[in-house]
Amino acid sequence: MGDIDSMNEAAMLQGQAQLSKYISAFPISMAIKCAVELRIADIIHSHGHPITMSPIATNIDSSSPDISYLSRIMRLLVRQKIFTAATSQGEDTFYGLNPISRLLLHDTELSLAPMFLFQNNPILMAPWHCFSSCVKEGGIAFKKAHGSEIFDMASKDEELNESFNNGMNSVTKSIMKSIITGYKDGFNSITSLVDVGGGTGAAMSEIVKAYPHIKGTNFDLPHVVSTAQKYEGVSHVRGDMFQAIPPADAVFVKRIMHDWGDEDCVKILKNCRKAISEKTGKVIIVEAVLKPEGEGLFDDLGFMYDLVMIAHSSGGKERSEDEWNKLLKAGGFPRYNIIEIPSWLSIIEAYPQ
Ligand SMILES: C[S@@+](CC[C@H](N)C(=O)[O-])C[C@H]1O[C@@H](n2cnc3c(N)ncnc32)[C@H](O)[C@@H]1O
Repeated sequence: MGDIDSMNEAAMLQGQAQLSKYISAFPISMAIKCAVELRIADIIHSHGHPITMSPIATNIDSSSPDISYLSRIMRLLVRQKIFTAATSQGEDTFYGLNPISRLLLHDTELSLAPMFLFQNNPILMAPWHCFSSCVKEGGIAFKKAHGSEIFDMASKDEELNESFNNGMNSVTKSIMKSIITGYKDGFNSITSLVDVGGGTGAAMSEIVKAYPHIKGTNFDLPHVVSTAQKYEGVSHVRGDMFQAIPPADAVFVKRIMHDWGDEDCVKILKNCRKAISEKTGKVIIVEAVLKPEGEGLFDDLGFMYDLVMIAHSSGGKERSEDEWNKLLKAGGFPRYNIIEIPSWLSIIEAYPQ
């Protein structure tokens, strides 16, 4: 056997290992989902220090938890550095929290647990199996899987609506600090702001808390707004952004355009333009700006979420600056600035003149 053959064999083994990782790429997210459902991070946190499997199992909501299953799930999560584990010689393993597992605590300000439960819900997973059919025939993956599009389904399914809104809120809370500090001058110069597709109002409540001079309006579909809690300084308005948007000095649109194709985005932008002053108004878009040449985690996330949009949206996508430029022009916003914030999302500030 010559050198080339042995190199090929090594490359083949490497390829097999690499592909085997992707043949089952979901065990990590499913293990995290399981830990979130069982509130493992909360149980450890409630003790105030790392604990062994026994008190974890005792606190799980079950009369006979299977410790061997849980130990295997925790073993993978420790290997992935989601939880910590320490074992002194011959002793039990003590599981602890690190900055990642702290984000899986329920009911905390920056928890990502609701988004984990939402994105890994079987309803949201099913459309991923429709990609090849989308390529062959076109169409909407979510509709192929469920017979209706996501916002229609959420308007009829209370549980999905709640999971959707909670998931969005959790991610919103984690990014608002960067937006609020990264866009200080932008918020200081306006007195009224409408958040289009603002969900249950988490973003607007943070904005008016930081900038109390702003009169905030949270605008979304009726089935979303009807579940929103009251926030001081925020009025909730129900409606359809494709029909009309309530007037304000500026419009805030966070993670909305990525849900829609170009034609729909142009309709939304034209309605944004009608809602603001031609001379002094602006639209504040929070979205990914794809950088094909970028290599970091933030850049990768944009391309991954682009596929999430194939799975869950109705023709939506993540866009590069070039694509944003064309879309904004077509929607009546010929001038824009991109403001980078410490996130994989950016602020695109666009003006009608
Ligand atoms: C991806 S979520 C983003 C929510 C929020 N802006 C955020 O960043 O967390 C999209 C939002 O758009 C809302 N939406 C969808 N169609 C809408 C319409 N026609 N008019 C108003 N809101 C709409 C949904 O109900 C949902 O809350």
